[in-house]
Amino acid sequence: MKLLLCCSVMLLLPFLAPRVCEAGNILVMPSEGSHWINMDILLQALHSKGHNITIVLSDKSWYIKENSSYYTAYTVKVDRYLEKVLIKKIISEFIEFERGALPLSHFLHMSVGMLSMFTDVQRIIGEFVSAVLDDQELMRKLNDTKFDLLLTDPCWGSGVILAKYLNLPLVYNVRWLIASEGHLAIAPSPISYIPITGSGNTDKMTFLQRVHNMVLYLVVKSQNYLASKLVYQPISDKYLGPNYDFYQLLLDADLWLMRVDFAFEYPRPTMPNVVYIGGFQCKPAKPLPQDLEDFVQSSGEHGVIIMSMGTFVSELPADITNEMATAFAKLPQKVIWRHTGSRPDTLGNNTLRVDWMPQNDLLGHPKTKLFVAHGGTNGVQEAIYHGVPVVGLPLFFDQYDNLLRLKEAGGAKLLNIKTVDKDNNFLNAIQEVLNDPSYRRNMQRYSRLHRDQPIEPMDNAVFWIEFVMRHKGAAHLKSQSHSLPWYSYHSVDVVLILAGAGLLVVLIMFISIRCLCTAMCKAKLKRD
Ligand SMILES: *[C@@H]1O[C@H](CO)[C@@H](O)[C@H](O)[C@H]1NC(C)=O
Ligand SMILES: *[C@@H]1O[C@H](CO)[C@@H](O)[C@H](O)[C@H]1NC(C)=O
Ligand SMILES: *[C@@H]1O[C@H](CO)[C@@H](O)[C@H](O)[C@H]1NC(C)=O
Ligand SMILES: *[C@@H]1O[C@H](CO)[C@@H](O)[C@H](O)[C@H]1NC(C)=O
Repeated sequence: MKLLLCCSVMLLLPFLAPRVCEAGNILVMPSEGSHWINMDILLQALHSKGHNITIVLSDKSWYIKENSSYYTAYTVKVDRYLEKVLIKKIISEFIEFERGALPLSHFLHMSVGMLSMFTDVQRIIGEFVSAVLDDQELMRKLNDTKFDLLLTDPCWGSGVILAKYLNLPLVYNVRWLIASEGHLAIAPSPISYIPITGSGNTDKMTFLQRVHNMVLYLVVKSQNYLASKLVYQPISDKYLGPNYDFYQLLLDADLWLMRVDFAFEYPRPTMPNVVYIGGFQCKPAKPLPQDLEDFVQSSGEHGVIIMSMGTFVSELPADITNEMATAFAKLPQKVIWRHTGSRPDTLGNNTLRVDWMPQNDLLGHPKTKLFVAHGGTNGVQEAIYHGVPVVGLPLFFDQYDNLLRLKEAGGAKLLNIKTVDKDNNFLNAIQEVLNDPSYRRNMQRYSRLHRDQPIEPMDNAVFWIEFVMRHKGAAHLKSQSHSLPWYSYHSVDVVLILAGAGLLVVLIMFISIRCLCTAMCKAKLKRD
């Protein structure tokens, strides 16, 4: 028995020993805002495995720091960059319109604003990547460093062009591919049961919902097409030569680390080079700073509620925040509210207003009873991970769709910006979720489902990045689907040829039978 045990331990040893991977050189072309928060966490993990990380950023970047202990940064000067002010203005107009404070003509103004913001962002990124490629000194340095791969977030097309220019394997940390959800571009996606993000549909759709889904699908596809053709194709032509179609380059990445999993995403077809890392940014909670811990403990048996509306919407209109503050003041719980606008007049003494909070650590705190959230992917994933029920106030982008999944799982209640400040809606929603234990139970079940995986999502991401390093790409996992023109992809050409051939056979048979008949008739006539 002992011998057997010993043998099996020896057999196991090679598997238990950590997989050795030589330290790699990784070049990163990050994107901004909440996308950078995700990427940053992945970079820290890669650094802790001993990899050498280099990022390229613009000198006007908002979030990405030039000096860091875990990466080297090359900063490139640009004339213009994304305007935070502009984005904030469009968002506040959007909220005003949704609440009926602005006339319909404003909707057109705003839709055009959104669309032009979208193209502007891509244009600005195009200028940025041109500036990078024009910097001869930098390009020589990058080429000399011999990177193993380029890691990027393809909501911007900059990394794709740089990777091709330096001839590096390409890895995506992805949820959005320019305007569309990543799967729509790479995996077969029958939209009869795959809801387009932004439609507010689930995987069970009525006829009208499917019509809506199709319209939205076409809109998203054309946005991708326009951004590729108008913005990135000229840059690709200029720096890579005329033989590349940018959109094909975009689809040709070696590995797609998709920031969802099938606890969150509806079941759908996928591809071998798609790896699911949803929730990779979630970690067990760390102890809170002492003052925050004291505040949380002071809540006693009632516990705390935390509220955050994300990076951009830290400032809601004053009448809404006053209404919220009034509602919070009526609760026995303590409230931690990430709110950077002016202090609401009605703020109760149970509410702590903060500029920033350790959201993951708070969500993982046993005293946290409820999360009031806008539905950004990071917050939603953290709520799932820690099993905290949610009251959601979605505004735009994918926020409604993200929260809808929690609602379907029975773990969230959704509010509407139009009515959130009326009829005590806000207070009622919070009280319902606090008092009905099914919300918490359902979220906890959801959390167990999400966590029950053979390998932690972050370890999975690191494994596959190292896999691409070891094998210098992952060509054997890439399907040929995107190198085909649409008529070959859907076999339209083959169907036409086969149908033509079938028709020809039928025609020949018909003619021969006719000839035979006429011949026989003639013969019969003669005999008569
Ligand atoms: C790490 O990256 C820096 C910046 O790109 C580069 O200069 C350096 O040579 C790299 N180190 C190794 C060991 O490759
Ligand atoms: C980054 O470090 C360099 C040199 O160590 C220093 O000159 C520069 O001011 C630092 N930048 C920031 C933003 O701290
Ligand atoms: C990178 O360096 C190699 C030689 O090491 C050279 O053949 C290639 O043209 C260089 N590429 C660029 C884009 O400078
Ligand atoms: C908060 O205010 C209520 C009434 O407004 C008061 O009774 C209570 O003592 C206050 N609590 C603290 C901790 O100041």
